[in-house]
Amino acid sequence: MKFFVDTADVDAIRELNDLGMVDGVTTNPSLIAKSGRDIKEVTAEICEMVAGPVSAETVALDAEGMIAEGRELAKIAENITIKVPLTWDGLKACKVLSGEGRMVNVTLCFSANQALLAAKAGATFISPFIGRLDDLNLDGMELIAEIREIYDNYDFSTEILAASIRTANHMKQAALIGADVATAPPAVIKAMASHVLTDKGLDAFLKDWEKTGQKIL
Ligand code: G3P
Repeated sequence: MKFFVDTADVDAIRELNDLGMVDGVTTNPSLIAKSGRDIKEVTAEICEMVAGPVSAETVALDAEGMIAEGRELAKIAENITIKVPLTWDGLKACKVLSGEGRMVNVTLCFSANQALLAAKAGATFISPFIGRLDDLNLDGMELIAEIREIYDNYDFSTEILAASIRTANHMKQAALIGADVATAPPAVIKAMASHVLTDKGLDAFLKDWEKTGQKIL
């Protein structure tokens, strides 16, 4: 499973990228607002740092506006993926932009039928939002499983990009189901390294080591 980082915080991206943990980046208008930076400037900086796809989201509501904004965002760098919402106009924009050979990420997907339409419209990525479904007491992972089955049934090349990932357990479940990509905040990726028994074991080893009075260096 590829790891995308869901943030516009360049320092956080750099730290994970240096570890080889970053296959791409996703941003959205909320994350750009949180960064406090200009969308073109911060996105260009991210695109220069990361070799993989970097999603930048349009904000127009009509297809024509999304297409114009998508073309403008695509000028930032070769690895820009244009993000459009899963609306009827978003699907129209996806069809046009993907037809121009651009990478398109269709976002705000909450049903298997929406994902099926995005694949038909030529999406490079479909972004089902797991956490926001879980917030409503629905099962976000069930959606990922349904989309996986449908895409495999018909050999769609659209990649499943599990989004709105909130926990390390979401990462594990997405990988088990076979999501192609998961995008997560840096803190969630770091949390994957933690285990209480690792901390406990390390503590015991260090206490015993102290008793030996030895030094390695
Ligand atoms: O990738 C989409 C993500 O940014 C949304 O996450 O936690 O706001 O639902 P969240």
